[in-house]
Amino acid sequence: MSYNIAIDGPAGAGKSTIAKKVARNLDFIYVDTGAMYRAIALYLLRNQVKTENEERISHFAKLANVELTYINGEQQVILNGENVSGFIRTEQVGNMASVAAKNEDVRAQLLDLQRNLAQRENVIMDGRDIGTHVLPNADLKIYLTASSKVRANRRYRELQEKGMECNLEEIEQDIITRDKQDMERKIAPLKQAEDALLLDSSDMTIQEVVDKIVVLYHENCGR
Ligand code: DC
Repeated sequence: MSYNIAIDGPAGAGKSTIAKKVARNLDFIYVDTGAMYRAIALYLLRNQVKTENEERISHFAKLANVELTYINGEQQVILNGENVSGFIRTEQVGNMASVAAKNEDVRAQLLDLQRNLAQRENVIMDGRDIGTHVLPNADLKIYLTASSKVRANRRYRELQEKGMECNLEEIEQDIITRDKQDMERKIAPLKQAEDALLLDSSDMTIQEVVDKIVVLYHENCGR
């Protein structure tokens, strides 16, 4: 039986950085489900699909075959045979991913992929609906959050380090819009699962959050 850890929370809470470190520590596979939505969003953008055109979103999403592979333990996202990992981290793709994620067909398409992976492997999977919807029986569930100011500051620094031009206020506004969109959508909205542990990382370092999750794993899971 595989062991599953679910980490949900809003954009920029530090889920991926933390999940990657926990995965390394426990020798689990890290699955970034946001990257799957981003790959579909990239395909929609490349095909000039408009955000308000649900029919075209459904149509084009079906033509986007998303797969995950791992190179040196790093998740790679393959879109119709092309490794698009280097193209999916822009704000434009993130915003389109949040729009595409409201679409029923898009969600259904990715759900199978996510569940199959978790059934086969010990995974730490991050996203918005992992504990509530994708893996309701996950062995350990974390809801990781931080204030929108802290999250915007983190993303701003991240983008600056990559040499990308950015504006702090715009980033915070994007984060607030994206939170609202992810929390208020009809299908599998972002919310804390009843049995998830709430961790607010506003005043915690990355390492403190990682250590906390590793301790929880050993305590709760008896392994
Ligand atoms: O975590 P991220 O920023 O890479 O995610 C991009 C978008 O994908 C996010 O705004 C909402 C959507 N998403 C989702 O709806 N469900 C998930 N499990 C993961 C991401």
